[in-house]
Amino acid sequence: MTMNTTLVINAKGGVGKTTITTNLASYFAARDIVTTIADFDPQGSSLNWLAQRSSEARKIHGADLSTRIGGGGFANGRRVIARETRQLILDAPAGPSRLLLQDLLARTQSILIPVGPSSIDVHATAGFIKELLLVGQVRFRNIRVAVIANRVRNNKPVYAPLEKFVGSLGIPFLGRVSDSDVYVEACETGVGVFDLPVEAATDERNEFLPICRWAAGDQTEEEAPTSNVVPITAARA
Ligand SMILES: Nc1ncnc2c1ncn2[C@@H]1O[C@H](COP(=O)(O)OP(=O)(O)O)[C@@H](O)[C@H]1O
Ligand SMILES: [Mg+2]
Repeated sequence: MTMNTTLVINAKGGVGKTTITTNLASYFAARDIVTTIADFDPQGSSLNWLAQRSSEARKIHGADLSTRIGGGGFANGRRVIARETRQLILDAPAGPSRLLLQDLLARTQSILIPVGPSSIDVHATAGFIKELLLVGQVRFRNIRVAVIANRVRNNKPVYAPLEKFVGSLGIPFLGRVSDSDVYVEACETGVGVFDLPVEAATDERNEFLPICRWAAGDQTEEEAPTSNVVPITAARA
């Protein structure tokens, strides 16, 4: 059985790496795919999210792969990735060292880069993508890369330069994740939008689906869709 790995990373903090990680994990778990989040961030936000997660929710495994001494908020402090994992999501810290970046790149098939809505975030992300290409050699390694605009509040053209830049590099812009309290509340209670009833998170699930499908590789193609995963609509601009 093969394992598909997705790295969620950006040089910046607070851009939504953990939010993307946890919601992606909730998507795979909702489809009964064995899923593990490996948290490389000493802040341990993904592991804290897992610690909040009810034992009745679909199981998501956690692994503490940060370099923090003595482990952190995660109850079990597991440092190993469950062997049966089929979807592994790596939640990276902000500003990873070159050494850590190389370690992360060696582990992954795909990279998701969330970008915040400020021009500072956009600028920093363009620099980070250049680093991935030049230092990380992602093309040479055959690692797929995609960008996500996160915390979108309106159609302000703040992302236009970034869309143009990534477009010129042939990197897909997977879509826009809105600035929504649903993500904040889900994050606080150890759930993702795919754990919630459809009617409680319809827009959020729809905007997340292209991200999930891209990250899935071909793994979800084999799975029958679960009844509460709603089809994607073109409703959101
Ligand atoms: N789309 C969103 N809508 C609303 N709040 C968000 C969204 N994405 C992230 N946040 C909030 O922004 C903060 C930083 O997000 P987080 O995912 O922890 O970023 P990172 O892991 O990159 O540091 C958190 O409080 C999170 O709940
Ligand atoms: Mg984080």
